[in-house]
Amino acid sequence: MVNHIPNQKRGDCLTPTTLDLLGNPLDFIHEDHLREREICAMIDRIVDAEDPDRDQARVILSFLREELPLHLEDEEQDLFPLLRRRCETEDEIDKAIQRLETDHRHADEDTPGVIAILAALEAGERQPSDDDQSVLVRYAGHARRHLILENAIILPFAKLRLTEGDLGTLRLRMMQRRGLDRLMETSDAE
Ligand SMILES: [Fe+2]
Ligand SMILES: [Fe+2]
Repeated sequence: MVNHIPNQKRGDCLTPTTLDLLGNPLDFIHEDHLREREICAMIDRIVDAEDPDRDQARVILSFLREELPLHLEDEEQDLFPLLRRRCETEDEIDKAIQRLETDHRHADEDTPGVIAILAALEAGERQPSDDDQSVLVRYAGHARRHLILENAIILPFAKLRLTEGDLGTLRLRMMQRRGLDRLMETSDAE
């Protein structure tokens, strides 16, 4: 069984979540949430800065384009269905998951606009306008509220209700999504 990984071994949330954490997929998802919170803080800094940092825009863009879609799939295709299967009726998990899935659809709609604003900044084409800043502030606010709900409800219930077998399934699916299962097969064959 994989134990909780001490904080000092965890990332600084400034880089993508380390794949070592996939040993316990819930630790990986928790770390993804810390990373997302750091991304929200970077968005705030871009809004507040007189001369926004283009390097930070690049980091946020890479999160939104590459990491977030995988995270949303981890939750929607694997974690949420496992929770629906394992939770008791009195957990009322379905209501919470429906709310979170609605948030994900809103994020799907809003993310391309945020990417366009940050891509223009990163390319040195233009700085965010007042309207752009409102879009960024709203996006980070929604993301933070979503994270609070997931950390307060989804992860505690996942720890409580998912079996070792469920965690194994979740781990495998998350590895497959990142192409890591093929990597391991290759190294096994060597
Ligand atoms: Fe999440
Ligand atoms: Fe989510």
